[in-house]
Amino acid sequence: MSSLAGRQVLVGVTGGIAAYKTPELVRRLREAGAEVRVIMSAGAEAFITPLTLQAVSGHRVRSDLLDPEAEAGMGHIELARWADDILVAPATAHVIARLAHGLADDLLATLVLASEARLWLAPAMNRVMWDAAAVRDNAARLAERGVRLLGPGSGSQACGEEGQGRMLEPAELVAALSAVGAEGPLAGRRFVVTAGPTHEPLDPVRFIGNRSSGRMGFAVVAALAEAGADVDLVAGPSTLATPPGVRRVDVRTAIEMREAVMARIAGADGFVGVAAVADYRPAEVAGDKIKKSDSALRVELVPNPDILAEVAALAERPALVVGFAAETRDIEAAARGKLEAKGLDLIAANQVGDDRGFEQADNALEIYAADRHWSLPARPKPELARELVAIIAERMPLREQHSQ
Ligand code: C5P
Repeated sequence: MSSLAGRQVLVGVTGGIAAYKTPELVRRLREAGAEVRVIMSAGAEAFITPLTLQAVSGHRVRSDLLDPEAEAGMGHIELARWADDILVAPATAHVIARLAHGLADDLLATLVLASEARLWLAPAMNRVMWDAAAVRDNAARLAERGVRLLGPGSGSQACGEEGQGRMLEPAELVAALSAVGAEGPLAGRRFVVTAGPTHEPLDPVRFIGNRSSGRMGFAVVAALAEAGADVDLVAGPSTLATPPGVRRVDVRTAIEMREAVMARIAGADGFVGVAAVADYRPAEVAGDKIKKSDSALRVELVPNPDILAEVAALAERPALVVGFAAETRDIEAAARGKLEAKGLDLIAANQVGDDRGFEQADNALEIYAADRHWSLPARPKPELARELVAIIAERMPLREQHSQ
């Protein structure tokens, strides 16, 4: 059964040329089992008629906030409560700005404010617009608040240009919504995951970093979401795309990563630290670019906080705390040592160096718990991540039953 079966999806259409794809989106959502209602912004009606969307959704399409007749049926508050998911597709720069600023000046913006549904945005605009600082800031602000951005993708655009800004295809949007949901062994569980490297600045243009690409962490995030978990990804610098349905916050340094993790950890069921967090950072960051000279440059490094150990030591700690260990030798001893020292439930260790581990598509993992060991031989990181997530699901303590 699709995880969209029985889901109530409110599709908000705004005024972009990609609105011509919305009827197909609605049709596919319904085929996947969702119940769909559509609302349109005034701008959307310039691109597509309400009648088309009424025909494919099977329900009257609303566009006015102050429509006494419509409010007599399912009013905007009922509609806001009805939705499990609100998907704005296409989402124009204008609606992204209005939502980022909390405006309530039309039916869609008001509904979003009045709803506790998951909010998904499928941006669609010219590539230069998508790159504009104001649009980026607004999108980042929404992502910070937990809004799920789907795309945009790249390719040829209606304006005749090539680049990033195309709305994802209806099938991709449906796949993203289906990836999150009521099914899967980790449904109803929330995970916080760190991934990628950290960059520790020396001056405005230089940093100390490492070779982590973020691939393993992003694969773990995707596998957790596939297993039904609700995932917050805290990503160090990485150009990888966010797996569907995942909330992502981008950070640069270990200190920023710790802050972002601590802001999200309360109430999480699991934490997986995959990031290759820099162990040290320069004690001082030069305000100006450090000039070349003939004498040696000495940089004092101070230790960074150990995010994983801090999470494991929290009084209200997630039920399952999982670490990674990149080792060049004596894997088992090193991994078991970290499991114990950091107070972890599971540790996934891999051999790095000699072109193994970092930046590679394949990896192999040795996973240790205090009472068990699993050996996962080399295979592509997404497959490996699925197996690790199966072990995570198996080790996840059953939820305590609260009788009230
Ligand atoms: O001690 P070591 O750095 O080898 O431990 C690796 C594990 O600890 C990884 O899961 C990594 O994400 C996490 N870690 C962390 N904060 C640090 C260093 C490592 O969360 N400062």
